[in-house]
Amino acid sequence: MLEQLENMESTEMSSKEQRRRVGILGTGDFARALAKRLFFSGYDVILGSRKPEKKAMSAIDQCLCNVQLISVEECIKSTSIIFLAVHFDNVKELLTEHIEKLEGKIVIDVSNKDRPSTVTSNAELVQKMFPGCKVVKAFNVISAYAMENDYNSSSKQVFIASNSEGARDVVANIAKDMNFRPVDFGGLFASRRIEKHPLRLFPEWRGPIGFAVGLFNAWLLYLIYIYYIAESKYQWEQLFVKVLNKAICMSGITTLSVTYLASSFATVFKFTTVRSIYVSRGG
Ligand SMILES: NC(=O)c1ccc[n+]([C@@H]2O[C@H](COP(=O)([O-])OP(=O)(O)OC[C@H]3O[C@@H](n4cnc5c(N)ncnc54)[C@H](OP(=O)(O)O)[C@@H]3O)[C@@H](O)[C@H]2O)c1
Repeated sequence: MLEQLENMESTEMSSKEQRRRVGILGTGDFARALAKRLFFSGYDVILGSRKPEKKAMSAIDQCLCNVQLISVEECIKSTSIIFLAVHFDNVKELLTEHIEKLEGKIVIDVSNKDRPSTVTSNAELVQKMFPGCKVVKAFNVISAYAMENDYNSSSKQVFIASNSEGARDVVANIAKDMNFRPVDFGGLFASRRIEKHPLRLFPEWRGPIGFAVGLFNAWLLYLIYIYYIAESKYQWEQLFVKVLNKAICMSGITTLSVTYLASSFATVFKFTTVRSIYVSRGG
Protein backbone atom coordinates (compact mmCIF):
# COMPACT_ATOMS: atom_id res chain seq x y z
CA MET A 1 0.00 0.00 0.00
CA LEU A 2 2.77 2.37 1.06
CA GLU A 3 4.73 1.45 -2.05
CA GLN A 4 1.66 2.10 -4.20
CA LEU A 5 1.20 5.49 -2.58
CA GLU A 6 4.85 6.35 -3.11
CA ASN A 7 4.57 5.24 -6.73
CA MET A 8 1.46 7.36 -7.19
CA GLU A 9 3.19 10.33 -5.64
CA SER A 10 6.24 9.95 -7.82
CA THR A 11 4.14 9.57 -11.00
CA GLU A 12 2.14 12.61 -9.98
CA MET A 13 5.34 14.53 -9.32
CA SER A 14 6.94 13.51 -12.57
CA SER A 15 3.78 14.41 -14.53
CA LYS A 16 3.72 17.74 -12.69
CA GLU A 17 7.39 18.29 -13.50
CA GLN A 18 6.71 17.31 -17.10
CA ARG A 19 3.74 19.68 -17.21
CA ARG A 20 5.77 22.58 -15.89
CA ARG A 21 8.83 21.97 -18.03
CA VAL A 22 9.11 24.15 -21.11
CA GLY A 23 11.74 24.38 -23.80
CA ILE A 24 12.90 27.44 -25.71
CA LEU A 25 14.70 27.20 -29.02
CA GLY A 26 17.16 30.06 -29.53
CA THR A 27 19.36 31.98 -27.14
CA GLY A 28 18.83 35.53 -28.41
CA ASP A 29 17.31 38.55 -26.63
CA PHE A 30 13.76 37.24 -26.62
CA ALA A 31 14.71 33.68 -25.65
CA ARG A 32 16.72 34.88 -22.64
CA ALA A 33 14.00 37.29 -21.48
CA LEU A 34 11.40 34.53 -21.86
CA ALA A 35 13.60 32.03 -20.01
CA LYS A 36 13.99 34.38 -17.05
CA ARG A 37 10.32 35.22 -16.89
CA LEU A 38 9.27 31.56 -17.12
CA PHE A 39 11.82 30.53 -14.51
CA PHE A 40 10.59 33.17 -12.05
CA SER A 41 7.02 32.08 -12.81
CA GLY A 42 7.81 28.60 -11.53
CA TYR A 43 8.74 26.77 -14.73
CA ASP A 44 11.60 24.41 -15.33
CA VAL A 45 13.18 25.98 -18.41
CA ILE A 46 15.57 24.44 -20.93
CA LEU A 47 17.16 26.36 -23.75
CA GLY A 48 17.96 24.68 -27.05
CA SER A 49 20.86 26.11 -29.02
CA ARG A 50 22.66 25.16 -32.22
CA LYS A 51 25.93 25.45 -30.33
CA PRO A 52 25.26 24.90 -26.63
CA GLU A 53 28.90 24.13 -25.87
CA LYS A 54 29.96 27.59 -27.02
CA LYS A 55 27.52 29.57 -24.89
CA ALA A 56 27.62 30.20 -21.16
CA MET A 57 24.24 31.59 -20.20
CA SER A 58 25.18 32.32 -16.58
CA ALA A 59 28.06 34.47 -17.84
CA ILE A 60 25.60 36.51 -19.93
CA ASP A 61 23.10 36.83 -17.11
CA GLN A 62 23.32 35.43 -13.57
CA CYS A 63 19.56 34.90 -13.45
CA LEU A 64 20.01 32.26 -16.14
CA CYS A 65 22.27 30.03 -14.06
CA ASN A 66 19.28 27.80 -13.29
CA VAL A 67 18.38 27.43 -16.93
CA GLN A 68 19.79 24.39 -18.65
CA LEU A 69 21.41 24.93 -22.06
CA ILE A 70 21.30 21.90 -24.35
CA SER A 71 21.18 21.05 -28.05
CA VAL A 72 18.10 21.73 -30.17
CA GLU A 73 17.49 17.99 -30.52
CA GLU A 74 17.69 17.33 -26.77
CA CYS A 75 15.43 20.27 -26.07
CA ILE A 76 12.75 19.03 -28.46
CA LYS A 77 13.01 15.50 -27.02
CA SER A 78 12.74 16.61 -23.38
CA THR A 79 9.63 18.79 -23.51
CA SER A 80 6.18 18.81 -25.01
CA ILE A 81 5.92 22.61 -24.98
CA ILE A 82 8.45 24.41 -27.14
CA PHE A 83 8.83 28.15 -27.64
CA LEU A 84 10.23 28.99 -31.03
CA ALA A 85 12.31 32.09 -30.22
CA VAL A 86 14.16 32.29 -33.53
CA HIS A 87 13.52 34.46 -36.57
CA PHE A 88 10.98 33.00 -38.97
CA ASP A 89 13.55 32.77 -41.80
CA ASN A 90 15.61 30.32 -39.72
CA VAL A 91 12.75 28.05 -38.65
CA LYS A 92 12.80 25.68 -41.61
CA GLU A 93 16.56 25.14 -41.47
CA LEU A 94 16.46 24.65 -37.70
CA LEU A 95 13.55 22.23 -37.44
CA THR A 96 13.43 20.20 -40.65
CA GLU A 97 15.74 17.45 -39.34
CA HIS A 98 13.60 17.16 -36.16
CA ILE A 99 10.24 16.92 -37.89
CA GLU A 100 9.43 13.48 -36.43
CA LYS A 101 10.36 14.46 -32.88
CA LEU A 102 8.00 17.43 -33.09
CA GLU A 103 5.01 15.17 -33.64
CA GLY A 104 2.17 16.04 -31.22
CA LYS A 105 4.12 18.79 -29.43
CA ILE A 106 2.96 22.32 -28.77
CA VAL A 107 5.13 24.79 -30.67
CA ILE A 108 4.68 28.43 -29.69
CA ASP A 109 5.60 30.80 -32.49
CA VAL A 110 6.59 34.20 -31.09
CA SER A 111 7.93 35.63 -34.35
CA ASN A 112 7.08 39.00 -35.83
CA LYS A 113 7.05 40.18 -39.40
CA ASP A 114 8.75 43.18 -40.98
CA ARG A 115 5.69 43.90 -43.13
CA PRO A 116 2.02 43.12 -42.66
CA SER A 117 0.47 40.43 -44.84
CA THR A 118 -3.16 39.50 -45.33
CA VAL A 119 -2.33 36.44 -47.40
CA THR A 120 -0.76 34.29 -44.68
CA SER A 121 1.10 34.42 -41.36
CA ASN A 122 4.37 33.05 -40.02
CA ALA A 123 2.45 30.76 -37.67
CA GLU A 124 0.36 29.30 -40.49
CA LEU A 125 3.51 28.68 -42.51
CA VAL A 126 5.15 26.92 -39.54
CA GLN A 127 2.04 24.75 -39.16
CA LYS A 128 2.19 23.92 -42.88
CA MET A 129 5.87 23.00 -42.65
CA PHE A 130 5.36 20.85 -39.54
CA PRO A 131 1.78 19.53 -39.70
CA GLY A 132 2.33 17.01 -36.89
CA CYS A 133 2.78 19.64 -34.18
CA LYS A 134 0.26 22.02 -32.65
CA VAL A 135 1.38 25.51 -33.56
CA VAL A 136 0.24 28.32 -31.29
CA LYS A 137 0.76 32.00 -32.05
CA ALA A 138 1.44 33.92 -28.85
CA PHE A 139 3.69 36.38 -26.99
CA ASN A 140 4.80 38.24 -30.15
CA VAL A 141 3.16 41.43 -28.89
CA ILE A 142 5.39 41.49 -25.78
CA SER A 143 8.85 42.98 -26.25
CA ALA A 144 11.93 41.32 -24.78
CA TYR A 145 12.33 44.39 -22.55
CA ALA A 146 8.78 44.15 -21.16
CA MET A 147 9.14 40.39 -20.76
CA GLU A 148 12.27 40.85 -18.68
CA ASN A 149 11.53 43.98 -16.67
CA ASP A 150 7.80 44.47 -16.40
CA TYR A 151 6.70 41.83 -13.86
CA ASN A 152 3.74 43.94 -12.81
CA SER A 153 2.05 43.48 -16.15
CA SER A 154 -1.30 41.86 -15.46
CA SER A 155 -2.92 44.37 -17.80
CA LYS A 156 -0.67 43.36 -20.72
CA GLN A 157 -2.53 41.16 -23.17
CA VAL A 158 -1.12 38.07 -24.83
CA PHE A 159 -3.09 37.20 -27.97
CA ILE A 160 -3.35 33.46 -28.59
CA ALA A 161 -4.35 31.61 -31.77
CA SER A 162 -4.15 27.92 -32.63
CA ASN A 163 -6.17 25.28 -34.40
CA SER A 164 -5.90 23.14 -31.26
CA GLU A 165 -8.20 24.27 -28.47
CA GLY A 166 -6.24 22.22 -25.92
CA ALA A 167 -2.97 23.87 -26.95
CA ARG A 168 -4.60 27.31 -26.67
CA ASP A 169 -5.65 26.49 -23.10
CA VAL A 170 -2.16 25.29 -22.16
CA VAL A 171 -0.57 28.49 -23.49
CA ALA A 172 -3.26 30.66 -21.87
CA ASN A 173 -2.40 29.07 -18.50
CA ILE A 174 1.30 29.70 -19.06
CA ALA A 175 0.54 33.36 -19.90
CA LYS A 176 -1.54 33.66 -16.71
CA ASP A 177 1.27 32.12 -14.64
CA MET A 178 3.59 34.76 -16.11
CA ASN A 179 1.18 37.49 -14.97
CA PHE A 180 -0.09 38.36 -18.44
CA ARG A 181 -3.69 38.50 -19.57
CA PRO A 182 -4.38 35.84 -22.24
CA VAL A 183 -6.87 36.67 -24.99
CA ASP A 184 -8.16 33.76 -27.06
CA PHE A 185 -8.31 34.66 -30.76
CA GLY A 186 -9.48 31.21 -31.88
CA GLY A 187 -8.03 29.35 -34.87
CA LEU A 188 -4.59 29.90 -36.36
CA PHE A 189 -6.13 32.00 -39.12
CA ALA A 190 -6.32 34.80 -36.53
CA SER A 191 -2.52 34.85 -36.28
CA ARG A 192 -2.59 37.18 -39.32
CA ARG A 193 -4.27 39.80 -37.15
CA ILE A 194 -1.99 39.04 -34.21
CA GLU A 195 1.13 39.45 -36.36
CA LYS A 196 -0.14 42.76 -37.70
CA HIS A 197 -0.55 44.15 -34.20
CA PRO A 198 3.09 45.05 -33.35
CA LEU A 199 3.43 46.75 -36.75
CA ARG A 200 0.79 49.31 -35.86
CA LEU A 201 2.38 52.55 -34.73
CA PHE A 202 0.12 54.84 -32.65
CA PRO A 203 -3.04 53.11 -33.91
CA GLU A 204 -5.31 55.84 -32.47
CA TRP A 205 -3.40 58.74 -34.04
CA ARG A 206 -6.10 59.98 -36.44
CA GLY A 207 -8.45 61.44 -33.82
CA PRO A 208 -5.90 63.54 -31.85
CA ILE A 209 -4.11 64.76 -35.01
CA GLY A 210 -7.46 65.72 -36.60
CA PHE A 211 -8.47 67.52 -33.42
CA ALA A 212 -5.16 69.47 -33.22
CA VAL A 213 -5.28 70.48 -36.91
CA GLY A 214 -8.96 71.51 -36.62
CA LEU A 215 -8.24 73.51 -33.49
CA PHE A 216 -5.29 75.32 -35.10
CA ASN A 217 -7.38 76.21 -38.15
CA ALA A 218 -10.21 77.49 -35.95
CA TRP A 219 -7.85 79.74 -33.97
CA LEU A 220 -6.12 80.96 -37.15
CA LEU A 221 -9.44 81.91 -38.80
CA TYR A 222 -10.58 83.65 -35.62
CA LEU A 223 -7.33 85.67 -35.39
CA ILE A 224 -7.45 86.55 -39.08
CA TYR A 225 -10.99 87.82 -38.58
CA ILE A 226 -9.96 89.89 -35.52
CA TYR A 227 -6.72 91.38 -36.91
CA TYR A 228 -7.56 91.79 -40.61
CA ILE A 229 -11.32 92.06 -40.97
CA ALA A 230 -12.63 93.56 -37.75
CA GLU A 231 -9.64 95.77 -36.86
CA SER A 232 -7.24 95.91 -39.88
CA LYS A 233 -4.40 95.95 -37.37
CA TYR A 234 -1.66 94.14 -39.40
CA GLN A 235 -0.46 93.97 -43.01
CA TRP A 236 -0.92 90.60 -44.78
CA GLU A 237 2.87 90.14 -45.04
CA GLN A 238 2.97 90.16 -41.21
CA LEU A 239 0.71 87.11 -41.06
CA PHE A 240 3.52 84.62 -40.30
CA VAL A 241 5.21 86.79 -37.67
CA LYS A 242 2.23 88.32 -35.88
CA VAL A 243 -0.66 85.90 -36.27
CA LEU A 244 0.61 82.38 -36.92
CA ASN A 245 2.61 82.24 -33.68
CA LYS A 246 -0.47 83.32 -31.71
CA ALA A 247 -2.55 80.58 -33.35
CA ILE A 248 0.10 77.93 -32.48
CA CYS A 249 0.30 79.20 -28.92
CA MET A 250 -3.46 79.21 -28.40
CA SER A 251 -3.85 75.77 -29.95
CA GLY A 252 -1.19 74.45 -27.55
CA ILE A 253 -2.89 75.96 -24.51
CA THR A 254 -6.33 74.71 -25.59
CA THR A 255 -4.99 71.19 -26.25
CA LEU A 256 -3.38 71.10 -22.80
CA SER A 257 -6.58 72.35 -21.16
CA VAL A 258 -8.68 69.74 -22.94
CA THR A 259 -6.18 67.02 -21.98
CA TYR A 260 -6.28 67.88 -18.28
CA LEU A 261 -9.93 68.93 -18.14
CA ALA A 262 -11.26 65.44 -17.45
CA SER A 263 -8.89 64.83 -14.53
CA SER A 264 -9.61 68.33 -13.15
CA PHE A 265 -13.35 67.60 -13.20
CA ALA A 266 -12.71 64.23 -11.59
CA THR A 267 -10.66 65.86 -8.80
CA VAL A 268 -13.34 68.46 -8.10
CA PHE A 269 -16.07 65.79 -8.17
CA LYS A 270 -14.11 63.53 -5.81
CA PHE A 271 -13.33 66.41 -3.45
CA THR A 272 -16.96 67.57 -3.26
CA THR A 273 -18.28 63.98 -2.84
CA VAL A 274 -15.79 63.16 -0.07
CA ARG A 275 -16.53 66.49 1.61
CA SER A 276 -20.31 65.95 1.54
CA ILE A 277 -19.89 62.40 3.00
CA TYR A 278 -17.64 63.84 5.72
CA VAL A 279 -20.15 66.63 6.51
CA SER A 280 -23.15 64.22 6.50
CA ARG A 281 -21.33 62.02 9.05
CA GLY A 282 -20.96 65.09 11.25
CA GLY A 283 -17.15 65.31 10.88
N1 LIG B 1 13.37 40.93 -29.35
C1 LIG B 1 12.10 41.24 -29.12
O1 LIG B 1 11.77 42.23 -28.40
C2 LIG B 1 11.00 40.37 -29.68
C3 LIG B 1 9.66 40.65 -29.33
C4 LIG B 1 8.65 39.83 -29.82
C5 LIG B 1 8.96 38.77 -30.68
N2 LIG B 1 10.29 38.55 -31.03
C6 LIG B 1 10.57 37.42 -31.92
O2 LIG B 1 11.41 36.50 -31.24
C7 LIG B 1 12.27 35.85 -32.19
C8 LIG B 1 13.72 35.98 -31.71
O3 LIG B 1 14.04 37.36 -31.63
P1 LIG B 1 15.39 37.84 -30.92
O4 LIG B 1 15.30 39.29 -30.78
O5 LIG B 1 15.64 37.02 -29.71
O6 LIG B 1 16.47 37.48 -32.06
P2 LIG B 1 18.03 37.22 -31.87
O7 LIG B 1 18.54 37.94 -30.69
O8 LIG B 1 18.67 37.47 -33.20
O9 LIG B 1 18.13 35.64 -31.57
C9 LIG B 1 17.75 34.68 -32.51
C10 LIG B 1 18.27 33.32 -32.06
O10 LIG B 1 17.89 32.36 -33.03
C11 LIG B 1 18.78 31.27 -32.97
N3 LIG B 1 18.98 30.75 -34.36
C12 LIG B 1 18.53 29.57 -34.82
N4 LIG B 1 18.85 29.40 -36.10
C13 LIG B 1 19.52 30.50 -36.48
C14 LIG B 1 20.15 30.90 -37.71
N5 LIG B 1 20.13 30.15 -38.81
N6 LIG B 1 20.76 32.11 -37.72
C15 LIG B 1 20.79 32.90 -36.63
N7 LIG B 1 20.23 32.55 -35.44
C16 LIG B 1 19.60 31.37 -35.37
C17 LIG B 1 20.07 31.77 -32.34
O11 LIG B 1 20.34 31.00 -31.17
P3 LIG B 1 21.50 29.91 -31.16
O12 LIG B 1 22.69 30.54 -31.80
O13 LIG B 1 21.74 29.60 -29.73
O14 LIG B 1 20.99 28.73 -31.93
C18 LIG B 1 19.78 33.23 -31.99
O15 LIG B 1 20.26 33.55 -30.72
C19 LIG B 1 12.02 36.54 -33.53
O16 LIG B 1 11.16 35.74 -34.31
C20 LIG B 1 11.33 37.85 -33.16
O17 LIG B 1 10.44 38.29 -34.17
C21 LIG B 1 11.29 39.31 -30.56
